[in-house]
Amino acid sequence: MKRFYLIIFLMAIALSFGAPLISAEENKEAMKIDAAFVIGKCTQCHTIGKICSRVGKKSDVEWMEIVQGMVKKGASLNDSEQKSVADFIVNLPSGKNQLCP
Ligand code: HEC
Repeated sequence: MKRFYLIIFLMAIALSFGAPLISAEENKEAMKIDAAFVIGKCTQCHTIGKICSRVGKKSDVEWMEIVQGMVKKGASLNDSEQKSVADFIVNLPSGKNQLCP
C-alpha cells in the first residue's frame, strides 16, 4: 500500500513538471500573427493584392494549401507560422481589412 502512495506522489510531481512544458507548447501553436507579419512574409515575390483578391473566397483548408505552396516556392515560415498565417487570412473580412487597404 505504501508503494501505491509513492507512485501517486511521483506521478503528481511528474505532472506538475510536465504541465508548464505542455502549455508552452500550446502557446507556440497559437502564435500571434498580425498584418505586419503577413506583409513581411508574403510580399517578397508578389504584392499583397495577390492575397487580398482571394480573401473571403477560400476555405481554411485552401488557405493552408496556398501557404504551404508558397513555402515550397521559397517563403520562410515554420509549421506553426504557416498555420497561424492561414488562420489569420481566413478570418479576415473581405474588402477592406487590416491586411488589405
Ligand atoms: C518565394 C516567393 C513567394 C512568397 C514568399 C510568397 N509567394 Fe505567393 N506566389 C508566388 C508565386 C510565384 C505565385 C504565382 C504562381 C501561382 O499562382 O502559383 C504566387 C501566388 C500566390 C497566390 C495565388 C495562388 C492561387 O492559386 O490562387 C496567393 C493567394 C499567394 N501567392 C499567397 C501568398 C501568401 C499568403 C504568402 C505568405 C505566406 C505568399 N504568397 C508568399 C510566390 C511567393
